[in-house]
Amino acid sequence: MRKNNFVVYSFLLAFFFISALHAQTAISIKNPKDAPVISKHIYGHFSEHLGRSIYDGLYVGEDSPIPNTDGVRDDLIQALKDLQIPNLRWPGGCFADTYHWRDGIGPQEDRPTIVNQWWGDVTEDNSFGTHNFLNLCEVLGAEPYLAGNVGSGTVQEFSNWVQYVNHDEGSPMAKLRKENGKEESWDVKFWGVGNEPWGCGGNMDAEFYADLYKQYATFLTSWDKDTEMYRIASGPSGNDYHWMEVLMKEIPAELMEGVALHSYSVIDWSNKGPASEFTEDHYFATMTEALKMEEYITKHTAIMDKYDPENKVGLIVDEWGGWYEVEEGTNPGFLFQQNTMRDAMIAGATLNIFNNHSERVYMANLAQAVNVLQAVALTQGEQMILTPTYHVMKMYTVHHDAQLLPVNFESPDYTYNGESLPAVSVSASKKDGKVAISLVNIDSKKENEVELDLGELDVEGMTATILTSDKLQDHNTFENTENITPGEFKDFKIKRGKLELTIPPFSVIVLKSE
Ligand code: AHR
Repeated sequence: MRKNNFVVYSFLLAFFFISALHAQTAISIKNPKDAPVISKHIYGHFSEHLGRSIYDGLYVGEDSPIPNTDGVRDDLIQALKDLQIPNLRWPGGCFADTYHWRDGIGPQEDRPTIVNQWWGDVTEDNSFGTHNFLNLCEVLGAEPYLAGNVGSGTVQEFSNWVQYVNHDEGSPMAKLRKENGKEESWDVKFWGVGNEPWGCGGNMDAEFYADLYKQYATFLTSWDKDTEMYRIASGPSGNDYHWMEVLMKEIPAELMEGVALHSYSVIDWSNKGPASEFTEDHYFATMTEALKMEEYITKHTAIMDKYDPENKVGLIVDEWGGWYEVEEGTNPGFLFQQNTMRDAMIAGATLNIFNNHSERVYMANLAQAVNVLQAVALTQGEQMILTPTYHVMKMYTVHHDAQLLPVNFESPDYTYNGESLPAVSVSASKKDGKVAISLVNIDSKKENEVELDLGELDVEGMTATILTSDKLQDHNTFENTENITPGEFKDFKIKRGKLELTIPPFSVIVLKSE
């Protein structure tokens, strides 16, 4: 090869290499007047009687040396308040269909103990019951979301629970509540009718559950003239479109305000892989599962649109998140796992998907709040750590009840072993004139340059926060609680309505205007 040819080829090679690494993605953000509002309830949480979620998690008991309010740890209360937790789902999960609410009211010494057969066969002494939960929600400023027992309960038991918590006075259950020390009703709006009836909730088929649902829903009257019931049917898992079709077809809209969807990011139910010592194979497989949420929501929404063109029924993704093998030495029935930058990627990308589908997605509940699955907080004795997932959820609070700004773009690929996933995800919103944009780059190695066309949006005084780290496996520990925390991000430019920045590998950036 002649010397000057060599120079030209080397130059071209270098040029293609650099442009492959730095190809810029153009994102345009629209500002339509009729865009939906991103319901704050998309940022909801879930606490089940499972492992150390309630006991030795949220609830340490009034006599604990750990500072607490009515037995609930103060550090957690503060952390959840800082997240502006909009709602909390309880008591399950699979546990809900074994739970008899009357076991958890009245004097402690009269409360029966049961065995929590779903989760580790541990003894449940019912010391955390309806009053504890609903009072906690009041302290948190969160709306309670109660899941009633359909699998092993009765219509009467369920409607009595509604009467107990919602009726002011004059009914047997209101009287009982007052005898138990609570004069005022709590006025609970969100009610789940069973949980996963296709599995732990009773192994039913969709047609059977649809009939049962109608029977239950008929008797779930609010008992309070100011509380509109929001009844949520137990919906499909992942891509079970038949389940959705049957529910939407068979249940009239006047009996159902919401329908649930459960979707976990699990590589393989029989070998879920480690929570923190994972490989890139595991990471890519987890993200493949997490990003399926886009397809699930799109397809379930299409079915809902067919039967509910007026968009009255909300899609409620009341269980989502990463699910791995439990940490070594912990009870397999307790589902305790560490939370790394991989989980931050799941959270950031999934919340962007929910935001962008806020026309139909009204609520979602991360599984679970504390010490279980993709938790926002982990506790050990007096200590508590906030996970990368917590930080993402906190960074995204800017989207709560903000108006969606639809985005338009083609994501660059994250390619691994010959397979590709969209690397970048974005959602944007506006509230009180302030613009917020959340960007995620899930690529494990490649940074991605983006140029956002902001049109006529006013982005005066924009500031940004980033969550990033050196390794995907990085996480906070009880020894190093601040290993991963959000930091200020200054590396962006705004010129003539265009915002330019480079998103480092596996990081989340949230920009907001003044
Ligand atoms: O969140 C853990 C379990 O996962 C829930 O109890 C159940 O609903 C789901 O299968």
